[in-house]
Amino acid sequence: MPVRSIGLPADDLDRSVTAFMAATPVTRRWDVERDFDWGAADANRLTDGQRSAVRFITFIEDHLPGYFALYSSRFPLDADTDVETFLLNREIYHFTVRWAQEEDSHARALFRYQVESGISAAEPLRRELAEEGRKQFSLPHEHPAALFAYTLVQEKATQIYYQNLKAVVGDPVLAEVLNRLSRDEARHFTFMADMVENYLHHYGDSVVEPIREAIAQFRMPLADTLRGYWRWALRIADTAHYDHTEAYEHLVRVVRRAVDAPSDRVDELDRFVRACRALPADSR
Ligand SMILES: [Fe+2]
Ligand SMILES: [Fe+2]
Repeated sequence: MPVRSIGLPADDLDRSVTAFMAATPVTRRWDVERDFDWGAADANRLTDGQRSAVRFITFIEDHLPGYFALYSSRFPLDADTDVETFLLNREIYHFTVRWAQEEDSHARALFRYQVESGISAAEPLRRELAEEGRKQFSLPHEHPAALFAYTLVQEKATQIYYQNLKAVVGDPVLAEVLNRLSRDEARHFTFMADMVENYLHHYGDSVVEPIREAIAQFRMPLADTLRGYWRWALRIADTAHYDHTEAYEHLVRVVRRAVDAPSDRVDELDRFVRACRALPADSR
Protein backbone atom coordinates (compact mmCIF):
# COMPACT_ATOMS: atom_id res chain seq x y z
CA MET A 1 0.00 0.00 0.00
CA PRO A 2 1.54 3.37 -0.96
CA VAL A 3 2.08 5.38 2.22
CA ARG A 4 0.30 8.40 0.83
CA SER A 5 -2.78 6.52 -0.24
CA ILE A 6 -5.78 5.72 1.89
CA GLY A 7 -5.41 2.19 0.49
CA LEU A 8 -9.06 1.14 0.62
CA PRO A 9 -11.59 0.66 -2.21
CA ALA A 10 -13.34 3.90 -3.18
CA ASP A 11 -16.76 2.29 -2.66
CA ASP A 12 -15.93 1.41 0.96
CA LEU A 13 -14.76 4.96 1.61
CA ASP A 14 -17.86 6.37 -0.03
CA ARG A 15 -20.05 4.20 2.21
CA SER A 16 -18.25 5.29 5.40
CA VAL A 17 -18.31 8.96 4.46
CA THR A 18 -22.00 8.78 3.53
CA ALA A 19 -22.85 7.16 6.88
CA PHE A 20 -21.00 9.95 8.67
CA MET A 21 -22.83 12.66 6.71
CA ALA A 22 -26.18 10.95 7.27
CA ALA A 23 -25.63 11.11 11.02
CA THR A 24 -25.67 14.92 10.93
CA PRO A 25 -28.45 16.21 8.71
CA VAL A 26 -28.76 20.01 8.63
CA THR A 27 -31.66 19.87 11.08
CA ARG A 28 -29.47 18.30 13.76
CA ARG A 29 -26.46 20.59 13.50
CA TRP A 30 -25.72 23.37 15.93
CA ASP A 31 -23.96 26.64 15.66
CA VAL A 32 -22.00 28.89 17.94
CA GLU A 33 -24.12 31.99 17.35
CA ARG A 34 -27.55 30.48 17.79
CA ASP A 35 -27.48 27.64 20.28
CA PHE A 36 -26.01 29.00 23.50
CA ASP A 37 -27.18 31.57 26.02
CA TRP A 38 -23.87 33.45 25.94
CA GLY A 39 -25.15 36.32 28.07
CA ALA A 40 -25.56 33.89 30.99
CA ALA A 41 -22.02 32.43 30.78
CA ASP A 42 -20.32 32.91 34.14
CA ALA A 43 -16.86 31.64 35.06
CA ASN A 44 -17.49 32.53 38.73
CA ARG A 45 -19.51 29.33 38.87
CA LEU A 46 -16.41 27.30 38.04
CA THR A 47 -13.60 26.08 40.26
CA ASP A 48 -10.01 27.05 39.41
CA GLY A 49 -9.45 23.54 38.11
CA GLN A 50 -12.47 23.77 35.83
CA ARG A 51 -11.38 27.15 34.44
CA SER A 52 -7.96 25.68 33.82
CA ALA A 53 -9.54 22.72 32.02
CA VAL A 54 -11.47 25.06 29.70
CA ARG A 55 -8.26 26.92 28.87
CA PHE A 56 -6.51 23.64 28.15
CA ILE A 57 -9.14 22.20 25.82
CA THR A 58 -9.35 25.52 23.96
CA PHE A 59 -5.68 25.10 23.03
CA ILE A 60 -6.31 21.53 21.89
CA GLU A 61 -9.34 22.39 19.75
CA ASP A 62 -7.79 25.57 18.42
CA HIS A 63 -4.94 23.59 16.87
CA LEU A 64 -7.25 22.47 14.05
CA PRO A 65 -5.17 24.07 11.25
CA GLY A 66 -2.31 21.79 12.29
CA TYR A 67 -4.45 18.64 12.34
CA PHE A 68 -6.01 19.51 9.00
CA ALA A 69 -2.60 20.21 7.45
CA LEU A 70 -1.41 16.78 8.58
CA TYR A 71 -4.28 15.03 6.80
CA SER A 72 -3.70 17.16 3.70
CA SER A 73 -0.02 16.25 3.54
CA ARG A 74 -0.55 12.57 4.35
CA PHE A 75 -3.27 12.15 1.73
CA PRO A 76 -2.30 14.71 -0.93
CA LEU A 77 -4.51 15.95 -3.74
CA ASP A 78 -2.16 17.63 -6.16
CA ALA A 79 -0.39 17.27 -9.50
CA ASP A 80 2.26 14.94 -8.00
CA THR A 81 -0.41 12.45 -6.95
CA ASP A 82 -1.20 9.62 -9.38
CA VAL A 83 -4.83 9.20 -10.39
CA GLU A 84 -5.33 5.96 -8.45
CA THR A 85 -4.11 7.52 -5.20
CA PHE A 86 -5.88 10.79 -5.88
CA LEU A 87 -9.30 9.26 -6.35
CA LEU A 88 -9.06 7.46 -3.01
CA ASN A 89 -7.72 10.48 -1.19
CA ARG A 90 -10.47 12.54 -2.74
CA GLU A 91 -13.09 10.35 -1.05
CA ILE A 92 -11.61 10.85 2.40
CA TYR A 93 -11.37 14.58 1.77
CA HIS A 94 -15.19 14.75 1.83
CA PHE A 95 -14.97 13.60 5.43
CA THR A 96 -11.97 15.70 6.37
CA VAL A 97 -13.50 19.04 5.38
CA ARG A 98 -16.75 18.37 7.26
CA TRP A 99 -14.84 17.12 10.28
CA ALA A 100 -12.58 20.17 10.17
CA GLN A 101 -15.57 22.47 10.01
CA GLU A 102 -16.99 20.82 13.13
CA GLU A 103 -13.68 20.94 15.01
CA ASP A 104 -13.28 24.58 14.06
CA SER A 105 -16.68 25.33 15.57
CA HIS A 106 -15.45 23.63 18.78
CA ALA A 107 -12.55 26.06 18.85
CA ARG A 108 -14.90 28.99 18.28
CA ALA A 109 -17.38 27.86 20.94
CA LEU A 110 -14.63 27.53 23.56
CA PHE A 111 -13.08 30.86 22.61
CA ARG A 112 -16.46 32.52 22.89
CA TYR A 113 -17.15 30.85 26.22
CA GLN A 114 -13.86 32.08 27.67
CA VAL A 115 -14.58 35.63 26.59
CA GLU A 116 -18.29 35.74 27.56
CA SER A 117 -17.78 34.04 30.92
CA GLY A 118 -14.87 36.27 31.89
CA ILE A 119 -12.05 33.72 31.85
CA SER A 120 -10.07 35.81 29.37
CA ALA A 121 -10.36 38.93 27.24
CA ALA A 122 -10.42 38.29 23.50
CA GLU A 123 -7.18 39.98 22.51
CA PRO A 124 -4.70 38.22 24.85
CA LEU A 125 -6.47 34.90 24.26
CA ARG A 126 -6.16 35.25 20.49
CA ARG A 127 -2.45 35.95 20.86
CA GLU A 128 -1.88 33.04 23.24
CA LEU A 129 -3.68 30.66 20.89
CA ALA A 130 -1.69 31.95 17.91
CA GLU A 131 1.59 31.34 19.75
CA GLU A 132 0.72 27.69 20.31
CA GLY A 133 -1.25 27.28 17.09
CA ARG A 134 1.67 28.09 14.80
CA LYS A 135 3.72 25.20 16.20
CA GLN A 136 3.81 22.21 13.89
CA PHE A 137 1.69 19.17 14.66
CA SER A 138 3.18 15.83 13.60
CA LEU A 139 2.55 12.14 14.15
CA PRO A 140 5.02 9.27 13.76
CA HIS A 141 2.63 6.87 12.02
CA GLU A 142 3.49 5.68 8.51
CA HIS A 143 0.62 3.25 7.98
CA PRO A 144 -2.71 4.96 7.28
CA ALA A 145 -4.52 2.46 9.54
CA ALA A 146 -2.32 3.64 12.40
CA LEU A 147 -3.29 7.23 11.70
CA PHE A 148 -6.98 6.35 11.86
CA ALA A 149 -6.47 4.24 14.98
CA TYR A 150 -4.66 7.17 16.60
CA THR A 151 -7.51 9.52 15.72
CA LEU A 152 -10.05 6.96 16.97
CA VAL A 153 -8.40 6.96 20.40
CA GLN A 154 -8.08 10.72 20.35
CA GLU A 155 -11.76 11.28 19.48
CA LYS A 156 -12.95 8.80 22.11
CA ALA A 157 -10.64 10.24 24.77
CA THR A 158 -11.94 13.75 24.03
CA GLN A 159 -15.55 12.57 24.11
CA ILE A 160 -15.06 10.93 27.50
CA TYR A 161 -13.24 13.97 28.82
CA TYR A 162 -16.02 16.35 27.79
CA GLN A 163 -18.69 14.09 29.26
CA ASN A 164 -16.87 13.83 32.57
CA LEU A 165 -16.15 17.53 32.74
CA LYS A 166 -19.76 18.36 31.85
CA ALA A 167 -20.92 16.27 34.80
CA VAL A 168 -19.02 18.42 37.33
CA VAL A 169 -19.08 22.00 35.99
CA GLY A 170 -21.23 24.58 37.77
CA ASP A 171 -22.06 26.77 34.76
CA PRO A 172 -24.98 25.41 32.69
CA VAL A 173 -23.78 27.35 29.62
CA LEU A 174 -20.47 25.49 29.74
CA ALA A 175 -22.30 22.21 30.35
CA GLU A 176 -24.29 22.79 27.16
CA VAL A 177 -21.14 23.60 25.17
CA LEU A 178 -19.51 20.40 26.43
CA ASN A 179 -22.65 18.45 25.64
CA ARG A 180 -22.58 19.57 21.99
CA LEU A 181 -18.86 18.95 21.67
CA SER A 182 -18.97 15.47 23.19
CA ARG A 183 -21.75 14.44 20.83
CA ASP A 184 -19.69 15.56 17.85
CA GLU A 185 -16.64 13.69 19.17
CA ALA A 186 -18.79 10.57 19.51
CA ARG A 187 -19.66 10.77 15.80
CA HIS A 188 -16.04 11.40 14.88
CA PHE A 189 -15.13 8.29 16.86
CA THR A 190 -17.76 6.27 14.99
CA PHE A 191 -16.30 7.30 11.64
CA MET A 192 -12.77 6.40 12.75
CA ALA A 193 -14.02 3.05 14.06
CA ASP A 194 -15.61 2.44 10.68
CA MET A 195 -12.30 3.20 8.96
CA VAL A 196 -10.34 0.87 11.24
CA GLU A 197 -12.91 -1.85 10.52
CA ASN A 198 -12.52 -1.24 6.78
CA TYR A 199 -8.76 -1.85 7.06
CA LEU A 200 -9.27 -5.03 9.05
CA HIS A 201 -11.87 -6.35 6.62
CA HIS A 202 -9.66 -5.55 3.66
CA TYR A 203 -6.21 -6.52 4.95
CA GLY A 204 -7.06 -8.95 7.75
CA ASP A 205 -5.24 -9.00 11.07
CA SER A 206 -1.92 -7.91 9.46
CA VAL A 207 -3.23 -4.40 10.19
CA VAL A 208 -3.26 -5.12 13.92
CA GLU A 209 0.48 -4.40 14.17
CA PRO A 210 0.31 -0.76 12.97
CA ILE A 211 -2.74 -0.33 15.22
CA ARG A 212 -0.72 -1.61 18.18
CA GLU A 213 2.01 0.87 17.31
CA ALA A 214 -0.51 3.70 17.35
CA ILE A 215 -1.20 2.87 20.99
CA ALA A 216 2.43 2.20 21.89
CA GLN A 217 3.41 5.64 20.60
CA PHE A 218 0.26 7.38 21.75
CA ARG A 219 0.56 10.97 22.92
CA MET A 220 -2.32 13.36 23.25
CA PRO A 221 -2.04 16.14 20.63
CA LEU A 222 0.19 19.05 21.67
CA ALA A 223 1.90 16.89 24.32
CA ASP A 224 5.23 17.78 22.74
CA THR A 225 4.62 21.44 22.03
CA LEU A 226 2.22 23.06 24.51
CA ARG A 227 4.02 24.85 27.32
CA GLY A 228 3.67 23.06 30.67
CA TYR A 229 1.71 20.26 29.00
CA TRP A 230 2.37 17.33 31.35
CA ARG A 231 1.67 19.04 34.66
CA TRP A 232 -1.37 20.67 33.14
CA ALA A 233 -2.65 17.39 31.68
CA LEU A 234 -2.43 15.68 35.06
CA ARG A 235 -4.26 18.51 36.72
CA ILE A 236 -7.11 18.56 34.21
CA ALA A 237 -7.39 14.76 34.36
CA ASP A 238 -7.91 15.12 38.06
CA THR A 239 -10.58 17.82 37.60
CA ALA A 240 -12.70 15.59 35.36
CA HIS A 241 -11.83 12.20 36.94
CA TYR A 242 -10.42 11.12 33.64
CA ASP A 243 -7.88 8.65 32.27
CA HIS A 244 -7.22 8.72 28.51
CA THR A 245 -6.20 5.03 28.43
CA GLU A 246 -9.90 4.25 28.88
CA ALA A 247 -10.20 5.04 25.17
CA TYR A 248 -7.79 2.19 24.28
CA GLU A 249 -10.38 -0.37 25.26
CA HIS A 250 -12.80 1.08 22.75
CA LEU A 251 -10.20 0.49 20.06
CA VAL A 252 -9.75 -3.14 21.11
CA ARG A 253 -13.51 -3.62 21.00
CA VAL A 254 -13.61 -2.27 17.43
CA VAL A 255 -10.82 -4.64 16.41
CA ARG A 256 -12.49 -7.65 18.06
CA ARG A 257 -15.73 -6.89 16.29
CA ALA A 258 -14.03 -6.65 12.88
CA VAL A 259 -11.87 -9.78 13.22
CA ASP A 260 -14.33 -12.52 14.10
CA ALA A 261 -11.94 -15.47 13.67
CA PRO A 262 -9.55 -16.29 16.55
CA SER A 263 -6.35 -14.29 16.09
CA ASP A 264 -3.11 -14.29 18.07
CA ARG A 265 -2.44 -10.75 16.89
CA VAL A 266 -5.73 -9.49 18.29
CA ASP A 267 -5.13 -11.35 21.57
CA GLU A 268 -1.73 -9.73 21.80
CA LEU A 269 -3.23 -6.28 21.19
CA ASP A 270 -5.71 -6.97 23.96
CA ARG A 271 -2.93 -7.99 26.38
CA PHE A 272 -0.91 -4.95 25.39
CA VAL A 273 -3.78 -2.57 26.14
CA ARG A 274 -4.40 -4.24 29.49
CA ALA A 275 -0.74 -3.74 30.34
CA CYS A 276 -0.94 -0.05 29.36
CA ARG A 277 -3.99 0.39 31.52
CA ALA A 278 -2.45 -1.28 34.55
CA LEU A 279 0.14 1.48 34.77
CA PRO A 280 -0.59 4.29 37.18
CA ALA A 281 -1.76 7.42 35.32
CA ASP A 282 1.29 9.54 36.23
CA SER A 283 3.82 7.12 34.76
CA ARG A 284 2.61 7.58 31.18
FE1 LIG B 1 -13.36 18.69 18.95
FE1 LIG C 1 -13.45 15.38 17.09
